[in-house]
Amino acid sequence: MTNPRESFNKKDTTTSSRSATSPAPSGKARLAILLSGRGSNMLALARAVREGGLQGLAEVAVVFSNIPEAAGLQAAAELGYATASIDSRGRKRAEFDAEVVAKLREFQPDYVVLAGYMRILSPTFIRTFAGRILNIHPADTHQHQGLHAYEWAWENRLPETKITVHLVDEGLDTGPVLAQAPVDLRGAQSLEEVEQRGLAVEHQFYADTLARLIRGELHPETPAPAAATQP
Ligand code: GRF
Repeated sequence: MTNPRESFNKKDTTTSSRSATSPAPSGKARLAILLSGRGSNMLALARAVREGGLQGLAEVAVVFSNIPEAAGLQAAAELGYATASIDSRGRKRAEFDAEVVAKLREFQPDYVVLAGYMRILSPTFIRTFAGRILNIHPADTHQHQGLHAYEWAWENRLPETKITVHLVDEGLDTGPVLAQAPVDLRGAQSLEEVEQRGLAVEHQFYADTLARLIRGELHPETPAPAAATQP
């Protein structure tokens, strides 16, 4: 029986048995972009694919949301991208994520790109796409994790915050950092201004970082080696 909470708009997708790690027939990395809200980062990534730093390097395989009525999902559909959604409300994490993994696999993504996806991913999800799940966090993840990162910067009157793009692990914003970009907050007069300045950086930086990753120019940070023990 069809799950009534699942909606699916599939366009221009293939169902070949290409493995997750082999390059797409087009030679472009296939992106599954996941969101839960307005989707401004998704739109910036899609623009970079069409006419910016990801052109020729990546293609949008699907835009997925756990919130069927998310504005970002609607925006993606209007632009002609394949979209899919499964409502996460009231669902158990492991069971929900297993369904999401199955759905995403239909689109054979090379990278799962979280763009305001408000879910902690289950171990099964992480393992399925190990090393290929990215997130953008609007703060230095070594200093701030979770929600309200711009509020945190504003309330603490930080002169600068750092946008972080990192690989996703089972924690909340704890995965290995790929790259960080500073945002100058000096003179900001309101939270809205802090957010506006931050998002302007996010929109450019996420695509640039992904492009560098696809080109093999980036390597995630590794934990500092443990201090040598004295004999
Ligand atoms: C962005 O600030 C992003 O860094 C964070 O969630 C927000 C999503 O915004 N992870 P949008 O939906 O991309 O506009």
